[in-house]
Amino acid sequence: MPKKAGSYRTNNPKPPTALSQPKMDADPAGADQDAITLLKQDHRAVESLFSDFEKATSDAAKGSLAIDICAALKVHARIEEYLFYPAALSGETAPLLAEARIEHAMAKDLIAQIEASGPNEPMFDAKVRVLAEYVRHHVTEEEEQLFPLCEKSRVDLVALGRELAIRKQELTRGATVSNPIQAIPA
Ligand SMILES: [Fe+2]
Ligand SMILES: [Fe+2]
Repeated sequence: MPKKAGSYRTNNPKPPTALSQPKMDADPAGADQDAITLLKQDHRAVESLFSDFEKATSDAAKGSLAIDICAALKVHARIEEYLFYPAALSGETAPLLAEARIEHAMAKDLIAQIEASGPNEPMFDAKVRVLAEYVRHHVTEEEEQLFPLCEKSRVDLVALGRELAIRKQELTRGATVSNPIQAIPA
């Protein structure tokens, strides 16, 4: 039986126009996860990138990994600060969230320094290693102190997880349009 004309379209997609906007997936990756599962997955992913950076020997690999680390951290910080932290705010969590926001600000300062330098500069490796230490400390506090309080709270972590996944997808796609780092707001 001959195929219908439309069935060939997936093999010959229409090229996007300059004005076309990236489409949102109906079910973005991570949309079926609760907020804490999604954030912990982000933590593991960036830990893996830091580990790869520590093992890397060439400037090209270090530069590329640093770009990925900075982009991943900026997206993660954005969805926490704008969606997760406000939803998690309570009398119990307020001191932890204040501390977390200060830690994010310190990490962002270092990210800006890394973005402004390159692997051929003498302090580049040290900056990325210090960023890794900041992030490991911050992640431990989130996972051991903040997240358990959120799990005991009345926050709808499934609905929040879906919001985080959608926003993460928007930010990640925005970051890849032109410049992988600068396109993501601090
Ligand atoms: Fe955080
Ligand atoms: Fe986090």
